[in-house]
Amino acid sequence: MQPIYNHQNKSKAYQALQKCQIELIEKSDIGSWNSLAATTRPSLQRILHLNLLIQSCINLPGDIFEFGCHYGASTCIMHNLLEIHQAHGRKAIHTFDTFEGFISVDSMDTSATQAPNKAGDFDVSIAEYADYLANMIELHFSLDSSASKNREFTIIKGDATKTLPHFLQKNPATLASLVIFDMDLHEPTLNCLELIKDRLVPGTIIVFDEMLAFKQFPGESIAYQECSFRSKLKPYNIGSNVPLVPFSSVFSYQP
Ligand SMILES: C[S@@+](CC[C@H](N)C(=O)[O-])C[C@H]1O[C@@H](n2cnc3c(N)ncnc32)[C@H](O)[C@@H]1O
Repeated sequence: MQPIYNHQNKSKAYQALQKCQIELIEKSDIGSWNSLAATTRPSLQRILHLNLLIQSCINLPGDIFEFGCHYGASTCIMHNLLEIHQAHGRKAIHTFDTFEGFISVDSMDTSATQAPNKAGDFDVSIAEYADYLANMIELHFSLDSSASKNREFTIIKGDATKTLPHFLQKNPATLASLVIFDMDLHEPTLNCLELIKDRLVPGTIIVFDEMLAFKQFPGESIAYQECSFRSKLKPYNIGSNVPLVPFSSVFSYQP
């Protein structure tokens, strides 16, 4: 019997689509529209997921906190979605990343069945990436002359467990309407959860991007179990009948 999914063929298809995407960028005029023909379903699912998250938090007071952005795909998409929903000026996005990958990996972050995660995984290979990402965000903003000029964003390089306390001290009035944990690891996820607790509002959307990926990244699930206000985090349906991002879990803070 043929296997249902042939992973080898699947990865060939991804590679072929990637090639098409590069070729089609050359064939696109401004906006790289033609290259979107090669957008894969997992990418599209992530975009739809982010759109539902943005819609879920849009009428709540507070900004968006993103812990773990890597090259900033989710960051840039969320900035554009805020612009599309005309919520810039009402909401800023604060993005935290080392841009040097994992700092350290503790025993809670390893599983018996998978290759071990290690310090340096997810390092970005472009120098001064925080500046590079800030420039991309500004470029996105500059495309829309009618958009609100009242935009704010921060990109904070470093270990979020160290940079977040400083940020919160400098911004005592800032609240959180959406908090996305995508650092994959136990210690920074648990620390940042506890640090941001006082900035949550009733209904704040809290996302653990890798919560169900416990075979490869058990840390986020363990952080959730250890969180001092776990009983106030209620599962939340962002409005899709099917999980758009398979490992992600979404909660709403209900004090
Ligand atoms: C899975 S990637 C994030 C992917 C991203 N959200 C996206 O959608 O493309 C995990 C990121 O967490 C960051 N990270 C891990 N530990 C961190 C820490 N203690 N402080 C800040 N960032 C951290 C890594 O540098 C890495 O870029």
